Amino acid sequence: MDFEKIIKTRKSIRSFKNEGISDKTLLKIIEMAKYSASWVNSKHIYTYVVTGEKLKELKKMHYKNAMKHAEYNSDIKYAHLNDFPNNEQHNMKKWLDERNNFLSKFENNDWNEKSNHLFNAPVVVYLAVEKPRNDWMMYDLGAYGDSIMLAAKNLGIDSITAYTFATFAPELHKILDIPKNQEIVVGIGLGYRDNDVINDFIASNDGFDKLVKIIK
Ligand SMILES: Cc1cc2nc3c(=O)[nH]c(=O)nc-3n(C[C@H](O)[C@H](O)[C@H](O)COP(=O)(O)O)c2cc1C
Repeated sequence: MDFEKIIKTRKSIRSFKNEGISDKTLLKIIEMAKYSASWVNSKHIYTYVVTGEKLKELKKMHYKNAMKHAEYNSDIKYAHLNDFPNNEQHNMKKWLDERNNFLSKFENNDWNEKSNHLFNAPVVVYLAVEKPRNDWMMYDLGAYGDSIMLAAKNLGIDSITAYTFATFAPELHKILDIPKNQEIVVGIGLGYRDNDVINDFIASNDGFDKLVKIIK
């Protein structure tokens, strides 16, 4: 696929079809993403590709916790609007307004329900780092995560990076047998988008514009 098209058509998908992805394709995605840059080539990110029965078990746990409004217990703390600087807060509020405006057109929108079901993603790639974590490790992890999404898009596979996947860390460590000396940072859902209207929401993309300067 044309690279500009890959970048511009990748968007967060919040409702996936019941269609799996072969191990061969999953490995190909990871194989491509491993070319991302990292601090002194440290390549330190643990990658857990979860699918099949294990993912079903994990989704059940997540849904149960979400239904009883269990307190978030992620390894990396949830960030609230007020934890961000002003410009970011402005962009986030705009995104929320645009999203609410979009959803108000549909009587039975089930944004939260989709999220509680982990978007019906047939695959979730969990990214984890070993303790002690430093800021550069998080930089590397973000770059690697984006490469995973773009490599997937190149193969016609949709994605979403979401905090939601990592909300209940103690249970995730247990179900996935991830040692306690690692922190689960985020999950990336992979799959094929379905026709639900939720996937028609397009986030606007001008938040960056006033922050970009060419300095000569
Ligand atoms: C670190 C991170 C965490 C995110 N967590 C969530 C989440 O929990 N739920 C969700 O619906 N979207 C989540 N997103 C997706 C963002 O809302 C989305 O990337 C943003 O609105 C831009 O839209 P786009 O990805 O379609 O371009 C997350 C994205 C990132 C990078």
